[in-house]
Formats: sequence, C-alpha cells, structure tokens
Amino acid sequence: MSVAKPLPHDAAKLHVTGAARYIDDIPTPANALHLAFGMSEIARGSYTMNLDAVRAAPGVVAVLTADDLPFANDVSPSVHDEPFLATGAVHYLGQPLFLVVADSHLNARKAARLGTVNYTEETPILTIDEALAANSRFEEGPVIWKKGDVDTALSNAPLQLRGSITMGGQEHFYLEGQAALAFPQEGGDMLVHSSTQHPTEIQHKVAEALGVPMHSVRVEVRRMGGGFGGKESQGNALAVACAVAARALGRPCKMRYDRDDDMMITGKRHDFRIDYVAGYDDTGKLSGVDFTQATRCGWAQDLSLPVADRAMLHADNAYNLPAVRITSHRLKTNTQSATAYRGFGGPQGVLGIERVMDHIASELGIDPVLVRQRNYYAAADRRVDLDPPAPQTTPYHMPVTDFILNEMTERLIETSDYKKRREAIAQWNADQPILKKGIAISPVKFGISFTLSHLNQAGALVHVYQDGSVHMNHGGTEMGQGLFQKIAQVAASRFGIDVSAVKITATDTGKVPNTSATAASSGSDLNGMAVANACDTIRDRIAACLAELHQSRTEDVLFEEGQVTVAGETMSFAQAAMTAYQNRVSLSATGFYKTPGLAWDRTKGTGTPFFYFAQGASVTEVVIDTLTGENRILRTDILHDAGASLNPALDIGQVEGGYVQGAGWLTTEELVWDDKGRLRTHAPSTYKIPACSDRPDVFNVELWDEPNPAQTIYRSKAVGEPPFMLGISAFLALSDAIGACGPNYADLQAPATAEEVLKAIHRARG
Ligand code: MTE
Ligand code: MOS
Repeated sequence: MSVAKPLPHDAAKLHVTGAARYIDDIPTPANALHLAFGMSEIARGSYTMNLDAVRAAPGVVAVLTADDLPFANDVSPSVHDEPFLATGAVHYLGQPLFLVVADSHLNARKAARLGTVNYTEETPILTIDEALAANSRFEEGPVIWKKGDVDTALSNAPLQLRGSITMGGQEHFYLEGQAALAFPQEGGDMLVHSSTQHPTEIQHKVAEALGVPMHSVRVEVRRMGGGFGGKESQGNALAVACAVAARALGRPCKMRYDRDDDMMITGKRHDFRIDYVAGYDDTGKLSGVDFTQATRCGWAQDLSLPVADRAMLHADNAYNLPAVRITSHRLKTNTQSATAYRGFGGPQGVLGIERVMDHIASELGIDPVLVRQRNYYAAADRRVDLDPPAPQTTPYHMPVTDFILNEMTERLIETSDYKKRREAIAQWNADQPILKKGIAISPVKFGISFTLSHLNQAGALVHVYQDGSVHMNHGGTEMGQGLFQKIAQVAASRFGIDVSAVKITATDTGKVPNTSATAASSGSDLNGMAVANACDTIRDRIAACLAELHQSRTEDVLFEEGQVTVAGETMSFAQAAMTAYQNRVSLSATGFYKTPGLAWDRTKGTGTPFFYFAQGASVTEVVIDTLTGENRILRTDILHDAGASLNPALDIGQVEGGYVQGAGWLTTEELVWDDKGRLRTHAPSTYKIPACSDRPDVFNVELWDEPNPAQTIYRSKAVGEPPFMLGISAFLALSDAIGACGPNYADLQAPATAEEVLKAIHRARG
C-alpha cells in the first residue's frame, strides 16, 4: 500500500530547483497591470485625500478609492467590519486607503507614496491595558467558562500562587508574500489565482465585490509558499483588488505585497497576557486555577473570536484541573487585525498552564516534570479503574478518553536521558560562573476539529481515465505541508496502484465547491476521507462490472499492487479501467466526508468540540550567557503522536518545522509598535525568525506510531499545528537556566529575547 511510506513531497524537486510555480511565476500577457495600496500613516482618526499626484505619476493607469466600488466594500471573513478601502475613518497605521493600478509593480508602489492625505488624529488604543481601560472589545463583556467551584478550591488549597505572563504576537513570514492575479473572462466572469488557504472564501469575497453570483468566479490555487494561518483571510484584499481592477479595466491584474507592506498591512498572531491564580499542595498537585486571558485582536474582528475560544479550550493542555475558571477578554485595538497563526490561539492557552507548572515547581524546588506528571490526565485504559472514578473531563466538560502522554513522557524521559542530563546540568551550573544551562520537558494535547462544527466537511472529485491513470481533486490547499502527497497516497491505496499513477492538480473552486479553509490541521483528515470515498465509489463500480463479466461476486474482486484479480484471473488496473469504460461504466465520482460526533456550545463552553486529541512531548536543553543574555538551543528530543502516519517523512518535517517556529515565537521573534501605533519591526532586518543555524545542534525526532482510536483516514492523526507547541519547552528551558542564577522565580516573559533573558537574570538574583 502507498500509505505509511516515507515518500518525498510531490513537488520537492520543483521546490529545490526553483521550478515550482507561485503566483508571481504564472505567465501573464504583456498588457497585465500591477497594483499597490496607499496606506494610512496614522493609527486612528479621519482624513481627506488629494490623489492628483498619484494619478499623474509615471505608468499609473487608474486610482481607485472606496467611492469607486459599486458593490461590496468589505474583505472581512466574519462580520463585514473590514472595509476593503477606508471610507474616511482609519483604524490602524497601514490601513489601505486607495488602490493604484499601474503598468509595473515598481511604478504602482512609487505612486502609492504620492497621495496627499490630511489627517485629523485621535488618540489610538494600542495596548491591552488601554483597551481594558476603555472597555474596547469585540463582545459585550468577557467570555467566562467554568468547571467546578474554583473560588472554594483556591481558598482551601494548602498553597497558592499568582502570576502573569505576557506573550508577543508573531509574524507569519511565509516565504511567498501575499499575492493574487485576476484574469477577466467573457460575460463579466473572473478567474482568480490566489495564494490562499481558503479558495472558497476568495471566491465569495470577489463575487460580493463584483456583484455577481459565486458561479461567475473561479479560484485556482496550485500552492502557497507557506501560509501558516496567515492566508486564511489576509489574501481577501489582494484578490478583491485584482478582480475589481480587472473588471474596471478589462486587463489582467496582479498584486503582491512587498515584504514591508505585507508586515504593515496584514494581521499576525494574537498577543496575550495571561494572569493566573493557582491552588496546589506540597507535591505540586493542582486543586484549582483561575485564568484571565486578555488578547489584542486589532481593529477588525476577523477570526479573533474562534482564536480566543481555542486559547480557552487549551488552557488545560495535558492536565486534569479539578476546578477552573477561564475569563477571556477579546480586545479591540488600533493595530493590524490579528488573525489565524499555526495553533490558532492554542499555543497561547497552553503557555498559560505550562507557565503555572513552571512557577509551582520553582516555588516547591522540585523537578518540573514531576509536577507535570502529577497533574496529567489519566491514561485512557486506566481511567475506568480509578477509585473513585476520575471525573476525567476538560474545563469544557468533554471526556478525555484517548490520553497517552503518561506513557509517551516516560518513554521520552528514557530516550532523551533526561534524568542524567538534569544532574549533569546541575553540576555544570554549580561549576560555571558565566554560562548556565537549563533543560525542560513540555507536553502538548491539541484538539482536532474546527470549533465551528459545520466547517468539518470536505469534498473530492476523482477521475479514472481509460488508461488507468487517476486525476485527483479535493478542497484542500498545498502550502508546503505535504497534503497533496499524503492524499495521493490515500488514492493510490484505495485503487491498489502506485502513487505515480495519481495526478495531483491545483485546487479549483470549479471542481470542488463550498470548501473549508485548509486549516485547523484538518487537511488530511477531511480531504483524505473525501478522496477515499470518491475512489471507493469508482472502485466498486469497476468491481461490479468485472464481477458481472466473470460471473463472480463484487466483493471478491481484489485491487492490489497495480493488479485487479477477479475469478482467478488477473489483469492490470489499466486493463480493468479500459474494460469498465468499454462497458459504459462511469469512471468519475465525487466524494464527501463530515466529521462525526461533534456537538459544541461555544457560548456555554460545554460539549465535544473535538474528534480526538493529537499529543506529543519534547525535551529542550539550552545554554545562556549571563553577561549578555544570549542563548542557544543545544539539544531537542521530541516524541510526537501522528497516529498511524500517512507519511512519516512528511510528518517528521511538520514536527521539526512546527517546533522551530514555536521556539522562534517565544525567543527571537519580537514585534515592536511605537506609541503612535507604527510597527517598527517590519522587515527581516529588525524581525528575527529562526535561521538554519538556530535549529537545535542535536535534534532527535521520533513518531509515536500507534493507530488513532478515532476512525480517521487509515487511523492517522493531524500533525500540522500540534508540534508548534513543543517549542514551549525551549522557553521553559531558558526559565530553568535563569533559575540557576539566583533564588527568585525568573518570571520570564515572552518572547525571551536576549534583553528579556538578561532582565530575568537580574530578577532571579533579586
Ligand atoms: N507547513 C508548511 N510547510 N507550511 C505551512 O504554511 N501551515 C500550518 C501547518 N503546517 C503550514 C505548515 C498550519 S497553520 C496548518 S493549519 C496546517 O499546516 C494546514 O495543513 P494540514 O491541515 O494539511 O495539516
Ligand atoms: Mo492553521 S492557523 O489553522 O491555518
């Protein structure tokens, strides 16, 4: 079978030779036009514009403002609160005010700087504290979920601590920036190529902007050069811009953001402050936690409510909290509209409870891994034997029946030689005055499914041609994660053929309609099932045809190793396809899948939002220079649960990439806004993502290769986002190293840049 094989990414050769086509590589006619936005220079206020100089600039063909839009002026993915072009009021510094259409990318960008804009400034709301003080938020008040009586649990607890952790946002830094290209078609139709995780959303927003039904717009996505959540909604503006300009001028239009513009205009990960009060005993066992999560959502709602929900849904991470209250403030600020980013709020929620574990261990002076293990959920098979039965439910009252981290953590402690290394590090720290080392283990338990239950559906379209070759389409998009390769392996397995016989083609709204974003790590779970469903329909039709011809039974027709066997006779899959064709059997089918068993009430905070949990654990060892705060990751060991992996090579790639991206979020990646609301870190010169040289010197990644108890495609598990949270162990290892510098708790804040590490060393020393 093709599944479970560690085959390379289908486009690996194209990627490394530079032959893979991204939006900017698509050949365009010589008359194609290029677009750029004129952007607001203030964070909040009103304005009037004179654009004569822009119109007169070299190469400019047209300049559009909100007044030139005959139909919808909105690019919001949620509540229509995001004008495509501003209408007299501005809400953040960088907001698009007008659109320049020119004969070249450079001419468009140069002209976009020439607008004369007169602003009347108002005081912007920029920080969490300012927003809380002004009660500037997206819902009436905070959202509060509860399990048990947390106040009593806290007051009865033998020990109590409180603290606070801030964590910064994160720029997606996809290598291919946001981009779109629109080709006007006959009769007012539009073909749009977009670098998007959500082709249906692009189709929808373009149709609204053009005032046409969705059937008049076709969106095609071959691949993205990275999305990471940043292309769930942030591509809407570019696609709408191209479509509106293409319709107005009758010429192909292309828009790609320059890196600085991309960082100034688009949303990023939500930054959070999480305050906590925890009650516990002298073994570190928690009796209750009270979390207050405050997050900066920026100026428009975008996906902030489900992101903030997911932060609440992961406030427990791997721990059975007897009593808990989670209060969530979704704050409206005059900054970029924060959006989806790998983990979708989950990492922020997880960091909250991991911080509590770290703080308790420091107070008690015991190994943090013991505190973690003492608070873990019980293992799935042991759960029923507990006396009295453990009320093993999450803070949102979902039973936890598939918890495997007890065993995984034990295995990882062994394979990473954690205990010996911890002793060696203690010795090192006792001997060494300047360089201090630290080590930490952190687990992840990540809920798989979209929390908006209706999104958990997928469609597919599969054709078998008369020569036995297979053409496969599904609603998922490829952003480097290897989704297409995995699903081709699924299709090949259903027909019992080699994966080379399966053609992977661009995602296309004309082939599979009404798709969900490729997000929530659910790409292979949903689309794998939909493709399997379509393949099985065709396979069963071929089987029925052959069975009838050979006086056999349909279920006795076997598809294996490129051969089809019926009534003792064996033929190639190609011969079987030809026979079916000649007998007038349809060799094309759609497939469909919806995740079973989901029931979730987000206002009450109760139910079963997830199909299952993906789990993993990591150990990170770091060294810090106590004179400068500089630091390095020395070694990382990861054990990650991908179920019965569809492709271990690709899954390990996801684990490595996720870990490094997570560690980057919490160490070097720092977003800085000044007091005017201007983002000062809008290029790689000032915003530092991990480079190859920042990866751990020793990096051992292993998959926990046990089948998923939930009925997923070949019992695999989603792997796109969960490993991101393993990067938290790097942050905790830094906290451990700083703890060796003095008697106080380091109170490390994120990101732990060199400056922050140095400050924390001073706090530890007191
Ligand atoms: N891996 C690569 N190489 N590039 C990406 O953009 N996005 C991540 C993850 N892994 C991403 C990636 C995010 S945010 C998600 S939700 C999943 O991939 C989406 O793909 P999947 O559902 O197929 O796992
Ligand atoms: Mo991923 S943040 O769900 O696109």
